[in-house]
Amino acid sequence: MRILAYLATLISLLPSVLAAPSSTLPARYAVHERRAAEPLHWHLSRRANPSSALPLNIGLRQQNIENIEEMLMAVSHPSSPTYGQHWSAKQVVETFSPTNETIGSVLTWLMDSGFSSDKIRVSGNRGWVQLHATIAEIEELLHTEYHVYTHLETGEEQIGCKTYSLPVRIQEHVDLIRPTVHFNHHPSPAYEVNKRFGGLGVGDDVGPTMSPKKVQASASSDSPGDLSECDSMTTLDCLRALYNINYTPVATDKNTFGVVEFTPQAFLEADLDLFFANFSPSQVGTRPVTVLIDGAVVQTDNQAPSFNVESDLDLEYAMGLTTPQPVTLLQVGDLVEGGSFDNWLDAVDASFCTFEGGDDPSQDGIYPDTQPGGFDGPEDCGILPPPNVVSISYAQDESSVTPAFAMRQCAEHAKLGLMGSSVFYSSGDRGVAGNGNVCLDNDGTPDANGVKFNPQFPATCPFVTAVGATQINPGSTVSDPEVACMTRIFSGGGFSNIYSLPDYQSEAVSSYLTNNPPPFTAQRFNNSGNSRAIPDISANGANYVVAVNGEFRLVFGTSASAPVVASIITLVNDARIAAGKKPVGFINPAIYSDQFKNGLNDITTGDNPGCGSNGFSAAVGWDPVTGVGTPNLANLIPLFLNLP
Ligand SMILES: *[C@@H]1O[C@H](CO)[C@@H](O)[C@H](O)[C@H]1NC(C)=O
Ligand SMILES: *[C@@H]1O[C@H](CO)[C@@H](O)[C@H](O)[C@H]1NC(C)=O
Repeated sequence: MRILAYLATLISLLPSVLAAPSSTLPARYAVHERRAAEPLHWHLSRRANPSSALPLNIGLRQQNIENIEEMLMAVSHPSSPTYGQHWSAKQVVETFSPTNETIGSVLTWLMDSGFSSDKIRVSGNRGWVQLHATIAEIEELLHTEYHVYTHLETGEEQIGCKTYSLPVRIQEHVDLIRPTVHFNHHPSPAYEVNKRFGGLGVGDDVGPTMSPKKVQASASSDSPGDLSECDSMTTLDCLRALYNINYTPVATDKNTFGVVEFTPQAFLEADLDLFFANFSPSQVGTRPVTVLIDGAVVQTDNQAPSFNVESDLDLEYAMGLTTPQPVTLLQVGDLVEGGSFDNWLDAVDASFCTFEGGDDPSQDGIYPDTQPGGFDGPEDCGILPPPNVVSISYAQDESSVTPAFAMRQCAEHAKLGLMGSSVFYSSGDRGVAGNGNVCLDNDGTPDANGVKFNPQFPATCPFVTAVGATQINPGSTVSDPEVACMTRIFSGGGFSNIYSLPDYQSEAVSSYLTNNPPPFTAQRFNNSGNSRAIPDISANGANYVVAVNGEFRLVFGTSASAPVVASIITLVNDARIAAGKKPVGFINPAIYSDQFKNGLNDITTGDNPGCGSNGFSAAVGWDPVTGVGTPNLANLIPLFLNLP
């Protein structure tokens, strides 16, 4: 798994001349959000230039959002009579779009504060109001002060404030405002390289170069390759044997499978061909269908494992396991700014925009009479419909985001589930610890000596599927039960400090905590039994043979596990689509249900150490190390085919 680092925003800044006096909050204003934790590796350099432009995005409170879990369960719980009856994008927009009262209140507030209507617009899905203003104007509007923060290693800059306030009467209409207290989370090339070459090793663990012994069988071949070395070299054939994968897709033109990569991470064509030549000869020359999001490039200027291993790994295994299904590469972010999780979410909002965007005059704008020129087409218009399955091997510490940010983004993931998408995130490679093995203070601040566990985000969002890592014990075979991955990485797992326990896992979590009480107090983790727990499912994350930069290397990480589970669900979807059914959508309610036990291999051995502890232990049933276990495709297909 690759960790998203911080990077500067686009906004260019000059030293401020005057520091604004700190003002006391006027009556009828209240603090709306505070920084979750001061970001590691950044220091506050100076006040932001008051005359710089700062495009502000105001996230409006959505209608019915409090019912989204129930709505998602109705289409994804295996015992729901409306299983598989996914929503159209139009239904999603209509159900959740903020009320006229909400939009009107926010627009009136902005205009009463002196902003002319040409500085204000409402996004195509009505979820956001965008305001074009200067930093000085925004500081006055939000009763805050903006500062420039500088990254200690790279010198990159970004701006932010520690807290901001709103009129009390506006608060109920606003989820959050950006950019404010939330640092942007982008993969930063320099940061990754520095960290890696500095020996700190974030993200995937890449081993030395090696030579896999022989060309193994392709997917279409009847005879599997040599499986005798799967305990030390994981290949496509090892995974097929482990997870009972013997299925060739037949409905590829109706199915979709997306893999998200954040620039500057990039695959190399020669690496795919080297991998396929050795392990899947019929695929030599095959490429992903690349969709470039927000000025993205699949860059080739920088070539090293730190730039290529993530994308090479994800695509080699996703394409290899699902051939001949075309795989869509969602390459996110440009070379300057990079991308964040929200960018790929925006990009799959295509249908949100096409029916209510600037192209359709009957739908154009929300208040055309009062807002001339304010609705000249939504900027965040999407460019592709949500793929049926999406795999994302990236993460950041949950402690780095505010609850409002986390809730808002998680609801967007729930909407994808409502529309029938399955979204898989790696659960992290540091056991119960966070990025760079850092844990938390009592108050949730990242601290190298902290003892509080530091779970990974967005894996902790209850509306995504969090994927942990297993491995074959050295000396064991593909027929023996796997164990939690404890070679070079530890499977990310634990309990959220933000999200509460979703219904679909409440029985599993309470039974784990009752039968295997962890030897930790509330100082280590939220042990109330009321918080979201991860991972949900797992797959092998050790010893992957990956072609990278013209050589084979062994790679370790939940980075590998996520695309493998995503590939398996893509094959399930193929079987359902071929039978005239819908894709499975959000799978968590199904995989936690009793009727799906036979579709999973329970993993009962191993721990996920971190924060000076042994972490949690795998156990019979669900556990916060390997989730409900690993998939068994041959058994999952009939189980999912039995559902409507
Ligand atoms: C909201 O405003 C739009 C545009 O003015 C209008 O067409 C619509 O009927 C309003 N909706 C409600 C529920 O009042
Ligand atoms: C534990 O999680 C639950 C559910 O999110 C929450 O209500 C509770 O406040 C949390 N406890 C602590 C000590 O943070």
